Amino acid sequence: MKTEIPTGKLLVVDDDEGVLDAMADYLRGQKHRVDIASTCLEAIEKLNERDYDIAICDVNLPDADGFHLLQWAVDRQPETSVILLTGYGTIESAVEAIRLGAFDYLTKPVIDEELNFSIRRALSQREIVEENKYLKSQLEQKFGPNNIIGRDYKMQKQYEIIESVADTKTTVLILGESGTGKSMTARAIHQSSTRSDKPFVEVACGALPDSLLESELFGHVAGSFTGAIADRTGKFLQADGGTIFLDEIATASPNLQVKLLRVLQDREFEPVGSSKTYKVDVRVILATNQDLEEAVKQGNFREDLFYRVNVVTLTQPPLRERIGDIPLLVEHYLEEFNTQTGKTIQGFEDGALHAMQQYSWPGNVRELVNVVERAVVLSKGDYVTVKDLPDGLLREKKLAQTFDQVDTEGGLKSALTAPEKQIILDTLIANGWNRQNTAKALGINRTTLYKKMKKYNIDEKKIVPLQT
Ligand SMILES: Nc1ncnc2c1ncn2[C@@H]1O[C@H](COP(=O)(O)OP(=O)(O)OP(=O)(O)O)[C@@H](O)[C@H]1O
Ligand SMILES: [Mg+2]
Repeated sequence: MKTEIPTGKLLVVDDDEGVLDAMADYLRGQKHRVDIASTCLEAIEKLNERDYDIAICDVNLPDADGFHLLQWAVDRQPETSVILLTGYGTIESAVEAIRLGAFDYLTKPVIDEELNFSIRRALSQREIVEENKYLKSQLEQKFGPNNIIGRDYKMQKQYEIIESVADTKTTVLILGESGTGKSMTARAIHQSSTRSDKPFVEVACGALPDSLLESELFGHVAGSFTGAIADRTGKFLQADGGTIFLDEIATASPNLQVKLLRVLQDREFEPVGSSKTYKVDVRVILATNQDLEEAVKQGNFREDLFYRVNVVTLTQPPLRERIGDIPLLVEHYLEEFNTQTGKTIQGFEDGALHAMQQYSWPGNVRELVNVVERAVVLSKGDYVTVKDLPDGLLREKKLAQTFDQVDTEGGLKSALTAPEKQIILDTLIANGWNRQNTAKALGINRTTLYKKMKKYNIDEKKIVPLQT
């Protein structure tokens, strides 16, 4: 087996020309890319010009010493590791070098093996740093707020709230129907907070029986109940420093609600069967698709807990209330499923998009994602057609509801135009009456939109807001 020896971009700095050339030649022989400098100033110029993995620098330079260069590099080019070399190494200066941020400190004459070892360590450490950065950006991409799709003004509001609460420790309650993106939003809040490199721990409270949920959240000690064989760390402790996301919170039992109230108030709890109190630094996000206020009225949810939980509330809009975003979501997920399946479908036909905009989407974005996946799998052509959509979606007619809102005097003709009027109206509302965005969302040009608005007598001023 051949082991790869890592190579890098190095800058060697020494005022002794003989030493400099010898070391540069040797390192080039090891397949590194090597530049040289003989003064501190020249080294700084080179470091400014290019990215180096490592600067190997003599402490004694004619203009300023190696410590000066080290300090400069730590402040200005932290990506470059510095290895200092000195002719008369003392423990003190070695300690000082490391304290100032040098990667390593070697005494001259430098032994090749020692130098190689140090370079190799520096390069692999850099690789780990790069990899972490990459993984973090991947996380950011996958879970950050940029991944949330929607231009509807209701979504814009969400982004504003996400941004303004992210860096606080405020408890956030996320409401919304199933599949509207509650979990996604919770992650986005965590990902845009300063806690993002700490754990994000999600607990589906509805999925566990009450007795298990308590130990899941707070942990237990061995023997505290049948089956508790060993001690167990709960999710609150796992999330220390980060964020805990309690999904389906409305299902919590009265007993658990008391414990939650305490942890929300004081960030304190005891594991099941233990008298030891733990204190944690955790940001709490909760979600439910039930009406908590109603649950309070019914006596199923503690009022004091409700007030603790209901500090900042985000309500995810149902998809049918932002149909202008449907084409965007479709485009995004089409790309994803094209990649997954290796297909090269270009898009959805207008007819298919219109049908999707008329549907009520009880399962919201999750349902849409499934519909797009299914269509990508079924589609035989370059474009997804109405035929590739599920029957249920096509059968459901928004017409019944549309008839109530449009006068039916004109008989069949006006009945047929009713859905179009409704789609235009919905899209305008969804886009806060921005004509440009509405036209774009509907896939028509602005002139056509104006013509149709005129034809259907759609006027922003005439729309009476719904009483809420
Ligand atoms: N605005 C959005 N942009 C892109 N994808 C979204 C959006 N909202 C939801 N999704 C996708 O829809 C699916 C459901 O989202 P999520 O799980 O966050 O919903 P939820 O409200 O937590 O659902 P449930 O009530 O079932 O827990 C996920 O695949 C998610 O990536
Ligand atoms: Mg969820």
